[in-house]
Amino acid sequence: MDSIFTTIFCILFPIILSTILLKTLLKFLPSGYRKLPLPPGTMGWPYIGETFQLYSQNPNVFFASKVKKFGSIFKTHILGCPCVMISSPAAAKLVLVTKSELFKPTFPASKERMLGKQAIFFHDGAYHAKLRKLVLRAFMPESVKNVIPDIESLAIESLKSWDGGLINTFQEMKTYTFNVALLSIFGKDGIHYREDLKKCYYNLEKGYNSMPINLPGTLFHKAMKARQELAKIIANIIAFRREMKHTYTDLLGSFMGDKEGLTDEQIADNMIGVIFAARDTTASALTWIVKYLAENPSVLQAVTEEQEAIVRSKKESGEESDLSWADTKKMPLTSRVIQETLRVSSILSFTFREAVQDVEFEGYSIPKGWKVLPLFRHIHHSPENYSEPEKFDPSRFEVSPKPNTFMPFGNGTHSCPGNELAKMEILVLVHHMATKYRWCMMGPQTGIQYAPFALPQNGLPIRLSHK
Ligand code: HEM
Repeated sequence: MDSIFTTIFCILFPIILSTILLKTLLKFLPSGYRKLPLPPGTMGWPYIGETFQLYSQNPNVFFASKVKKFGSIFKTHILGCPCVMISSPAAAKLVLVTKSELFKPTFPASKERMLGKQAIFFHDGAYHAKLRKLVLRAFMPESVKNVIPDIESLAIESLKSWDGGLINTFQEMKTYTFNVALLSIFGKDGIHYREDLKKCYYNLEKGYNSMPINLPGTLFHKAMKARQELAKIIANIIAFRREMKHTYTDLLGSFMGDKEGLTDEQIADNMIGVIFAARDTTASALTWIVKYLAENPSVLQAVTEEQEAIVRSKKESGEESDLSWADTKKMPLTSRVIQETLRVSSILSFTFREAVQDVEFEGYSIPKGWKVLPLFRHIHHSPENYSEPEKFDPSRFEVSPKPNTFMPFGNGTHSCPGNELAKMEILVLVHHMATKYRWCMMGPQTGIQYAPFALPQNGLPIRLSHK
């Protein structure tokens, strides 16, 4: 018996001793030589990982249970990729801003092909900076100011067409936001091409989330064909503009600027990309606002009073009834409703980045090629950042949120360049909706769809009528 213990001791003792020595040595080695552990977490099933757990329920439940178990940085496996999820505001800032050079934007190859490989989202460095300058030029407040009258016409036209009927809010808002996107990209020229662009874009959309099998008959194939059609229409608009030799202040004008030297293909990829970025996101935000206003009569009342005061003061001073930029600055309460809607609904639950090299991050190692996901939704719904986070309460924005806790438009070099336009088109539509119409929700009102954007169930059917 003794000899068995002696043998075990002789084998185990050196192993234990060398492990302790190695650990101690590693602690004192410079960080470059040290191998940090992977973040804690579980990887789920081979290949499928935990995709189903994330996408089959409210993502808040998935995030909150992981954070409780593993802390604010944890590993998982979704959509066929190993990932690290980041749920603290400070760490999200590191990924998106401070150390953004270590984390590049990443999308599945099929999505890149469909939207166009040269589109702004897929790039970093000099090419990205150049595109971003051009996009920001077209969407900065100075430029957005000029399109307010046209946005207003679109809002009035949309509301009239919904009057008296039962509508699917999200579907109708998509038409409105699509038309506003075309306006800001192609100016008034967009109207001539609206129907053709719409038809192609809808075919592209149908195949966007399909299996990427490019064979005749598949949704993916139809979407790729629709994409080519879109590029052709855009090429025609570009050719027409070259002949006209006018100066245009819309997005296409910004991209066609003489000095920019972009190819027609680069321009088309970016125009399609911007429509994609602008339409469903803003339509989703509008759908949530309609829901929250219907559910919170006192907030709706306050918004209506704020908007009616603007109409009244314009009448009294003999001003034109059209909304001006200055009017939109007199809507602080409505603006807080937009902020709170964006927080609660967190339309983009998270974004994707990829580690460009092995990265040491907050005491963990993130291997090169792993996806890194800052969790906007979790940050917006954490009681550490917002008291009673599930409650819709626009007054919380009377005080600025803590740094890096409010990121509906992202953060850093890839943050949303269209945010001013998005807020403007929402304000204009809410102005006319609250002052002239009433609406009620039809059907179940509690369900939420999450793929890919958070949306009220069935797109929120409502009945809307003139007051
Ligand atoms: C409420 C509506 C909107 C929301 C919530 C939203 C949200 C976002 C977010 C979170 C990002 C950053 C993604 C990332 O870092 O990976 C982004 C990027 C972007 N958004 Fe928006 N967006 C909205 C409306 C718009 C509009 C109206 C436009 C254009 C007219 C637009 C154009 C873009 C573009 C071009 C990018 C990519 C920027 C880059 O990669 O540098 N978005 N958006």
